[in-house]
Amino acid sequence: DNLTIVDHPLIQHKLTILRNKETPTAHFRQVLREVAILLGCEATKDLPLADVTIDTPLETIQSPYLEGKKICFVSILRAGNGLLDGLLDLIPSARVGHVGMYRDHDTLEAIRYYYRTPDELDGRQVIMVDPMLATGNTAIAAATELKKSGAKSLKFMCLVAAPEGVQAFNKVHPDVPVISAALDRQLNERGYILPGLGDAGDRIYG
Ligand code: PRP
Repeated sequence: DNLTIVDHPLIQHKLTILRNKETPTAHFRQVLREVAILLGCEATKDLPLADVTIDTPLETIQSPYLEGKKICFVSILRAGNGLLDGLLDLIPSARVGHVGMYRDHDTLEAIRYYYRTPDELDGRQVIMVDPMLATGNTAIAAATELKKSGAKSLKFMCLVAAPEGVQAFNKVHPDVPVISAALDRQLNERGYILPGLGDAGDRIYG
């Protein structure tokens, strides 16, 4: 399947801090922000470049520069905002979309309550971000909406994925690469990732 696990030692170290239930809120936020920068490097490693002409203090040269329209990050609320903060440290000029989704506690269906994206998604690399890929319902619904809005080059970046979610997501969106720091063991009966890190939204925002 279309899954990349980023096993950089700093990411794995920081993920252990995030999994630890003793990690207090302020530290959780800070480390999530740091890990987003590291994952963001992997998620943006194929951004297109084109040479531009510049003058260094000594010579005129051709030098690579990001080409095309600005990248767009799409934060899946609420927990996606915890990753978005770090991604905006990495690419401060990025465009940002917001998709509000919560899971119905009984059916685990994703329910959308907010949707707003920048114009012209079609010409941009669009990266959806959410720390958790559990059943996959949220990410599947978000990707479907973004495609309807014109997104053609889409990726999904998360921190922890469940095998069930990766499989479900790949089935509906085989063209959308998934970048994650970890592939965990399984979901429990309430749709929580095991071992996971708990409810990311609650750990960031209470
Ligand atoms: C969590 C998480 C994902 C979703 C993953 O959000 O942040 O968005 O569940 O689950 P799924 O793959 O089974 O759809 P939650 O519904 O708890 O909302 P919150 O981020 O606002 O807390």
